[in-house]
Amino acid sequence: MQSGLSPAEVEEAISSLRKIGLPLTASAEDRWRLERPLPDLLSAEELIARTEEDRVAWSAVVYDQVESTSDLLLREEVAGAPEGLVVTAERQSRGRGRLGRRWESDSPGGIYTSLLLRPELGLPQAHRLTILTTVAVAEAVEEITGFSPKIKWPNDLIGPRGKLGGILTEVAAKGGRVRGGVIGIGLNVSQELESFPEEIRGRASSLRIETGSLFRRVEILAALLRRIAIRYRGDFAEIRRLWEWRCESLGKMLRVRQGEGVVEGYALGLDEDGLLLLRTEAGAVVPLLAGELLGAGEPAGANRPCDAGGGWLR
Ligand code: BTN
Repeated sequence: MQSGLSPAEVEEAISSLRKIGLPLTASAEDRWRLERPLPDLLSAEELIARTEEDRVAWSAVVYDQVESTSDLLLREEVAGAPEGLVVTAERQSRGRGRLGRRWESDSPGGIYTSLLLRPELGLPQAHRLTILTTVAVAEAVEEITGFSPKIKWPNDLIGPRGKLGGILTEVAAKGGRVRGGVIGIGLNVSQELESFPEEIRGRASSLRIETGSLFRRVEILAALLRRIAIRYRGDFAEIRRLWEWRCESLGKMLRVRQGEGVVEGYALGLDEDGLLLLRTEAGAVVPLLAGELLGAGEPAGANRPCDAGGGWLR
């Protein structure tokens, strides 16, 4: 097939395609061949090309290694970076998880990404960002892989074999309103069990482990940004319902560490800002923003569904 381009133009086009990681090789008679399968490269150009239609104007930077994509983006937030800036890295040397924990980011094949949103939200509504992102990540995974992750409160994505990913939202505020939300997303994509450090092997999983297949991270990440853009502009009541539908912690008795204490109660659902409503044995309904889930069990006694009478919220 003739391209209609001059040799110099062809050379330039080939060179920019190679720059974004496409493995093009020259064959006889000036033909170019695209090697398959395509490499699992995270390319900012491909990411943006795949999300151009979104209602959030995404811009992306991809690093080989950083300490933490969230730390980097928090500094950009303070410097006034625009909404939609996405920072992603092949590896993080100091990836952070919830509750001050380390997020394992040494193994290649994971998605380690942070994105900046500047929503019109009061501080009490900021938790909506985490809820909508958790739903969006689950939907993106389902769209690309066909595998449907569940949510474990507060914001873990899980499969039958363990934790696939998590969300860490950090918010900067001004005058009681959100100025910027840095949403950090860690998602295990192509790791095998042996790729994880021994201490987390019993509870970590990846999309490869769950499905037996390999996926290109850039496709998942692009789907993720597309879903976030949709949910960000979406109706929170619907997002809440989608979160609840995917959540395996609801309808169970949960034990949650809150600072020094432990709260125990029946998980009813989310309130209008995404806080978890727990009904304690004393009958009080307590909204929880976060905490460490120590255990989940089947309800007994007054919390058994058939005994609940008019006490159910939904
Ligand atoms: C959790 O504890 O479940 C949340 C993990 C969030 C990890 C991501 S990876 C990208 C971003 N950068 C970080 O340092 N942490 C978040």
